[in-house]
Amino acid sequence: MLDAHTIATVKSTLPAIAAVGPGLTAHFYDRMLTQHPALKNVFNMNNQRNGDQREALFNAICAYGASLDNLAALLPAVEKIAQKHASLAITPDQYAIVGENLLATIKELLNPGDEVLAAWGRAYDVLADVFIQREEAIYQESEQQEGGWRGTRAFRISAIEEQSAVIKSFTLTPVDGGKVAAFKPGQYITVHLRPAGSVFQQNRQYSLTHTPDGKTYRIAVKYEPPGVVSGWLHRHAKVGDVLALTAPHGDIFMDVTSEIPVALISAGVGVTPTLAMLHALAEQAHAAPVTWLHAAENGAQHAFAAEVAETGALLRDFCKRVWYRMPDAADAGRFDAEGVMDLASLSERLRDARTQFWLCGPVGFMQCVAGQLREAGVNASRIHYEVFGPHKGL
Ligand SMILES: Cc1cc2nc3c(=O)[nH]c(=O)nc-3n(C[C@H](O)[C@H](O)[C@H](O)COP(=O)(O)OP(=O)(O)OC[C@H]3O[C@@H](n4cnc5c(N)ncnc54)[C@H](O)[C@@H]3O)c2cc1C
Ligand code: HEM
Repeated sequence: MLDAHTIATVKSTLPAIAAVGPGLTAHFYDRMLTQHPALKNVFNMNNQRNGDQREALFNAICAYGASLDNLAALLPAVEKIAQKHASLAITPDQYAIVGENLLATIKELLNPGDEVLAAWGRAYDVLADVFIQREEAIYQESEQQEGGWRGTRAFRISAIEEQSAVIKSFTLTPVDGGKVAAFKPGQYITVHLRPAGSVFQQNRQYSLTHTPDGKTYRIAVKYEPPGVVSGWLHRHAKVGDVLALTAPHGDIFMDVTSEIPVALISAGVGVTPTLAMLHALAEQAHAAPVTWLHAAENGAQHAFAAEVAETGALLRDFCKRVWYRMPDAADAGRFDAEGVMDLASLSERLRDARTQFWLCGPVGFMQCVAGQLREAGVNASRIHYEVFGPHKGL
């Protein structure tokens, strides 16, 4: 527990930190990655370049500083970050490196004096401890379940299928021939890969697209030129190649009882977690209405169309709507509406105040859909979403 003086001291420096803005975390990362270049095997260097990770960490620091006297308020954010950290196999000793560089950054940019630095040091230690303990619990949960493991495990690519012009799916089977851990629909694994020509190991999350079968995982990857990992998977990976995976993690997953209506809303490769949810609902013979809403660029880029139709047909009350932004002449009959997703015509179907919504796709798409849902009176607590990158608010 932090004493009142420490809390007041840290809080008093928050305006100065906010004034430096994400420049503080930029300085922090540059400093830390220069002094500890091995950490470039851990951080996604593209998230560094586009600033998303800096912004996410900066927001976390500000939120933590402001909530020092009410840490319970931070727990949902801690859970999201801890799940991401665990999927990256972050270890306790790395917290000391981060802490040392955070304090040095505050000193170099703000020079607030020893007392303030000591207060930030105590506050950081408390937060680091919260993460370390939660991450250790997650590692133990993963490790102790049937088919589970800690750290990375070697998987062989046992099948590659083209699911659209831009998306391929990969079935992954453990090299050791053992069982694989179960997961919740919406969770992801992390692929740890050092493609030829890449100096550092690259780690990327991919949502699981099926229900657990105890033997394999299936992911589906969109090629994002010139993306390092998606590029390797699309252009070089072949059946028999071996990848290192961490066990399934993630704080966004579907967990509903049979009487709860569900709407699964996705765009592009955002279909992956919602597809796993659809399979889970079909497997559990979900009784309440299930609504599947998907937006694709056109027919060529529309992945898993047949699988969704077949799986949906197993449900008692299933409704599917597909939007193509720019359909081709050959796409006639494959979609329901042209342009961007508009929920107006579905207001009756989605009216039940118990309906839970899961969204995944580009942030702009999710903001647009969440805006429509909010206008229709849907409370934010019923809107769940996964961002395929550092978390952002909708
Ligand atoms: C929880 C979670 C789940 C995810 N699930 C999925 C999933 O199911 N399927 C899926 O396909 N993805 C998923 N992702 C995204 C995935 O993890 C990767 O971010 C994605 O595959 C891109 O990785 P990459 O290595 O190919 O691209 P990176 O090399 O990381 O590049 C990222 C982006 O930057 C651009 N870029 C790279 N280099 C340059 C450059 N020199 N100049 C300009 N732009 C550049 C690339 O075009 C790309 O769009 C998920 C992410 C998260 C966080
Ligand atoms: C108390 C200390 C820490 C805080 C507050 C923190 C905060 C965060 C936040 C907010 C994110 C973004 C999560 C998301 O939205 O996806 C993140 C991701 C990440 N964190 Fe941490 N973190 C801490 C410690 C660490 C440590 C010790 C490491 C290991 C060196 C680490 C490595 C990462 C990595 C690799 C990512 C994924 C993003 C990327 O690859 O760039 N973090 N962290």
